[in-house]
Amino acid sequence: MAKRDGFVSRFGVLVTLAGSAVGLGNLWRFPYLVGQNGGAAFILIYILFVIFLCFPIFISEFIIGRRSQTDVFTAFSKISGDSRWNIVGALTVLSPLLILSYYSVIGGWSVNYLFKAVNFEFTNTAPEQIESMFTGLISSVDSMFLYHTLFILATAVVVLGGVKGGIEKFSKIMMPALFLIMLAIALYSLTLENAWAGVEFLFRPDFSKLTIKSCAAALGQAFFSLSLGFGTILTYGSYVSKKENILFQSSGTVVFDTLFALIAGLAIMPAVFNYGLSPQEGPGLVFHTLPYVFSQMPAGGAIAVFFFLALFVAAITSSISMFEVVVAYFVDEKKLSRILSCLIVFIIAWLIGILCLLSFGPLADLKIFGLNIFDFLDKTSSNFLMTIGSFCVVIFVGWKMKKSDIYDEFTNGGTLRWNVRLFGILYFIIRYLAPVVITLVFLSNFIL
Ligand code: TRP
Repeated sequence: MAKRDGFVSRFGVLVTLAGSAVGLGNLWRFPYLVGQNGGAAFILIYILFVIFLCFPIFISEFIIGRRSQTDVFTAFSKISGDSRWNIVGALTVLSPLLILSYYSVIGGWSVNYLFKAVNFEFTNTAPEQIESMFTGLISSVDSMFLYHTLFILATAVVVLGGVKGGIEKFSKIMMPALFLIMLAIALYSLTLENAWAGVEFLFRPDFSKLTIKSCAAALGQAFFSLSLGFGTILTYGSYVSKKENILFQSSGTVVFDTLFALIAGLAIMPAVFNYGLSPQEGPGLVFHTLPYVFSQMPAGGAIAVFFFLALFVAAITSSISMFEVVVAYFVDEKKLSRILSCLIVFIIAWLIGILCLLSFGPLADLKIFGLNIFDFLDKTSSNFLMTIGSFCVVIFVGWKMKKSDIYDEFTNGGTLRWNVRLFGILYFIIRYLAPVVITLVFLSNFIL
């Protein structure tokens, strides 16, 4: 049998996992949620959720992937010998496909804004015109179609290059570049005159602003940002060599992802406050408020180019990870060639994406449970599919897998000292705490 594709270097694994985690979630979703939910207190809760809940779930997904060395569809049944788990496998192949198609529509916006920035459309432009750019984009089905197509095509091309030749190589160059760009923008933003107000907003907690709803939003964001519950970490984990240290790779990714969200906050909030704008704009923060900030800022034209380049890179490394989950299914399970698998996934994601973008125009009145297609996909994926997926993962690791197998996988046969020490607490969280908390969060969707 031909050798399965896989990662080649330790650094490659880390940047690729980080590439999946760092995405629109960090640069687009996190800043606007922080803005809407009162700043620092939200961030604090977010970080607590990340450390005590999401990190163990992340490790669980990683363990299933590396143990099984196969795609998400069969991973569960291969380890447990119980074919009923194929249902979970099937769900985990379908979910990324759904999220991918709506993600690609937003990814398309980032491409559109990158082109706008390169043409210096934000400089020397009246505020009203900037205002209307975003509404202009989302009301033009033609341009959304074009940019969605470009985005998903670019994703397919990288995935076509294979795990080490395409995905890992791409991430090794792009992720460090992304990090440097965002760090530079954050530093620049901090030099603005009234930057301090933004920093205070991000770091001085006011707990009176915290509601149960914002806690649920923080947890949902933590799941989204760490790519949990959709088989991405599982799939990438299956390409990781048995010599690697799961604890090191997971903690590196989680720290990097959180750091990145904070840096994005530092790049955006001081600038927003400096120009007296509201941080509460919501999903339009990055596409609406920021271009205005860029139009006012010294050297804003150049900063805009770098910012939207960063947004695009962050988005594409994440969409690559979702794309790969489904491609791996066709390659491992159906024994199709990589090129044919990529073509199939491309066509499906492209078509669902088109439905999704049509919901901004001709299909606006097509409602599923009272939501248009775009909102429906957004809500179901983050509120339901991700929690259901993660629930299955922790139940599988905590109750179905043999404890000795998990220990073996996590500690590389008992040889890693730190992993051995942490195993007890980790296992406790996975087995007891995580299922309870995930259930509560799931139920909160119906109550709040
Ligand atoms: N984590 C990515 C972000 O922050 C998005 C993402 C990639 C994702 N793969 C995922 C979200 C799987 C949920 C599940 O933008």
